[in-house]
Amino acid sequence: MLLAPSILAADLADMKTAAEQCRQGGADFIHVDVMDGHFVPNLTIGVPVVQALAACSEVPLEVHLMVSNPERLLEEYLDAGARWLSVHWEAATHLDRLVGQIQKGGAAAGVALNPATPVEVLQDILPRLDFVLLMSVNPGFAGQAFLPYTLDKARRLRSAIERRQLDVTIAMDGGIGIDNIRQVVASGVEMCVAGSAIFASEDPVATMQELKRRAESELV
Ligand code: DX5
Ligand code: ZN
Repeated sequence: MLLAPSILAADLADMKTAAEQCRQGGADFIHVDVMDGHFVPNLTIGVPVVQALAACSEVPLEVHLMVSNPERLLEEYLDAGARWLSVHWEAATHLDRLVGQIQKGGAAAGVALNPATPVEVLQDILPRLDFVLLMSVNPGFAGQAFLPYTLDKARRLRSAIERRQLDVTIAMDGGIGIDNIRQVVASGVEMCVAGSAIFASEDPVATMQELKRRAESELV
């Protein structure tokens, strides 16, 4: 199980401390929420901030682009240090081309799906993807409630991946915490993104460790 704390929920004036906490907590990636105020109703982190974070973080960055016209920005985020990079299915006109560009840039390519978008839209492109990021909240903000119906999407995607013997990682993003991470992992998710559950807790490092412990106990 891979854990990717979402930096959006951390103190953005002190990302260096958050990055160090992620290292100490055994995080596999730092999830970076890029929002453009157009595809989603919020504006967050841009290229210079991703560069700054990449420069001070030992933990690799997994960048989630919630932007319209992602083709305009891909190269910049790849250069800024994104090791995994996802674009939204709902924002992409030429998804196959975008996936190829991300992989050519040396990163793992992912497609993010809004809660209401069925996983079946990925049927044909699935073998080309490195990961799928299933949104379990409507993208735009940290700290929202988990939408339980998205677990069924993870189960359907997991069975399609297994049936077709593909090597695609399922990630889930939004509203994941101590109380539901087991359920999330049980539905077939291999990478959990968690923001406020970690950074709004008293001890983010201990919370990361506890999230990993709970997720891994579900797998044994
Ligand atoms: C939502 C973002 C999520 C969010 C996760 O638009 O894509 O990554 O920051 O935060 P929590 O875990 O608080 O829902
Ligand atoms: Zn995200």
